[in-house]
Amino acid sequence: MGENKKYQVKFLPSGKSIKVSPGYKLHQAILDCGLTIDTSCGGVGTCGRCRVRVLKGSANTRKTKFISEKDKKNGFVLACLVKINDDMEVEIPAQKEKKAKIADGKDYVAANKSELINVEVSPWIIKENLIVEKPSLSLGTSDHYRLSKSITEKTAIKDPDIPIHFIRRLPHDLRKKDWNITVIMDKKNGVLIDLHSGHLGKKIYGIALDIGTTSLVMYLVDLLSGEIIDIRSGYNPQIKYGEDIINRIVYSNKRGGLSQLRGVLIDTLNKMIVEILKGIDINARDIVSIMIAGNPTMMHLFYGVPPKYIREDPYVTVANKFSDSTAREVGIKHLSNARVYSLRGIASYLGGDITSGVLASGMHKSEKLSLFIDLGTNGELVVGNSDWMMGCSCSAGPAFEGGGVKCGIRAADGAIEKISVDQDSYSCNIDIIGDCKPEGICGSGLIDLIGEMYLKGVINRKGKFNQDIGNKYLKCVDKVCRYILVPATESATGKDIYISEVDIDNLIRTKSAIYAGIRTLLEEVDLGTFDLEKVYIAGGLGKNLNIRNAIMIGMIPDIDIKKYNFLGNTSVKGAYQTLMSDNKYNESIKLSEHITYIELSVSMKFMDRYVAGLFLPYTDMKDFPTVEEYIYK
Ligand code: FES
Repeated sequence: MGENKKYQVKFLPSGKSIKVSPGYKLHQAILDCGLTIDTSCGGVGTCGRCRVRVLKGSANTRKTKFISEKDKKNGFVLACLVKINDDMEVEIPAQKEKKAKIADGKDYVAANKSELINVEVSPWIIKENLIVEKPSLSLGTSDHYRLSKSITEKTAIKDPDIPIHFIRRLPHDLRKKDWNITVIMDKKNGVLIDLHSGHLGKKIYGIALDIGTTSLVMYLVDLLSGEIIDIRSGYNPQIKYGEDIINRIVYSNKRGGLSQLRGVLIDTLNKMIVEILKGIDINARDIVSIMIAGNPTMMHLFYGVPPKYIREDPYVTVANKFSDSTAREVGIKHLSNARVYSLRGIASYLGGDITSGVLASGMHKSEKLSLFIDLGTNGELVVGNSDWMMGCSCSAGPAFEGGGVKCGIRAADGAIEKISVDQDSYSCNIDIIGDCKPEGICGSGLIDLIGEMYLKGVINRKGKFNQDIGNKYLKCVDKVCRYILVPATESATGKDIYISEVDIDNLIRTKSAIYAGIRTLLEEVDLGTFDLEKVYIAGGLGKNLNIRNAIMIGMIPDIDIKKYNFLGNTSVKGAYQTLMSDNKYNESIKLSEHITYIELSVSMKFMDRYVAGLFLPYTDMKDFPTVEEYIYK
């Protein structure tokens, strides 16, 4: 074989093809073609989701539990396990594009109006109509000088910063409408954001944006009134390159990986902006600012900064603070001059989304000992009050967002979001999102399921099935047991929806990491869970989380449930608050500097608590007195 030998791979049904070198991974070739394939585990063969069918050519692959002998004979393989060493024709099954379950648009705005509008409106991006002094022989000053003078007189901004691209246009723009000019200024930093010839209407708008590992949420906001005009949400398109942060970082280290991850994110954000502007009478040029909150990895990927060192000892970010820039500089089309800001991060696994969340909770201004929990793809925690705050990330993993659980899916149409188990028959009663057949179980459903199974005796404290209770929904083959929630005949997929001991084990490890993080943080300051006066829950699990069941499984402290408050997506809410008020923006900067970060991966205390949490609800039942009372009453 010649040194430059290439193999041709054609994909169906798209008909796209690519030429690659021998040994190139098949899933990478699919992604390189711009096609969609779910590579949730980052292409290491552990999620089983990159299944494709080889129609022509031989596939050099290894054995995997995800492909049965029968399927193997029919050409099915995991794309990430195939090294290309032949010309091939490969069929990629249709990948379902789902809408994230974040209520969209007007309904959401209406339902949350009081909560969202109850925010400080103190605009720091301003729009002013000016008349600039004309030059004359007696007034031989520069255009720049006279524009600066007009800005200062009107806005009290001293020595405004006028970027070079505006200076280039200045002679034309000033003279075009006889020295009448409209300026958009960042009052806080004294920077000129945009410049228009002539006098324009007062209206200006901004975008608050949450870049989550799983989902993206965008608010379009009237900067003068604080009104939220519309909301858009969707999945982070990077999911196909890896479901969690670690897999994204691994992918970003591959050749071209960082720009691929950044590219798909920016493309999606551009599409969301086009969508949100559809049918609304707003000129894109009147959208003058964007405030972004995201975890450190997402912010690195958004700005095109390598996140590699976030996951390498000693776990540092390249930056917790990213300079303000223009939309054009970061690749956001349509809003080219809009100023892009971001909330400051705290440490490698505690980002601007948590700064934003703490700000939205208000715990930094309260004397009460409070706990903030962001239950997203990772579990992030902050504990403290107005005097002190400490935070950590507990690497919970994506189990409650459907990762690592065979029938786990994200909260979207078809997801089972609430479950109860009948004590006599052990059948499951379920609530499904949307008017459709069930397809899988989302986070809140999984927490219900573990809690209910434990409570009704379907599983024991170790998460193992009790096989002697006459549970007819428990199906065991070769000692591998599955508890069937929905039979194949009633599911949307035509397959049983079930939970296995492997799934339960993953979920117990996840809940254990969250509780161990809470205990470890509190113990750092000689406090315990019963000292907590308020608990704020933010993040993907949302309002459907059944607090009783979350306590029952030992995920959150066993304290009065009235102390728990659901805040929803605090990342975007904090971004919205800072977009609307420079006081809030300054407050967010101070609080980000005020949180002490604890690195749990090197904490022995955390490991001890984690191991203790591998039982339901916890090894020491004294931590969960109401559960003990309930179970042994
Ligand atoms: Fe192939 Fe996960 S098994 S990407």
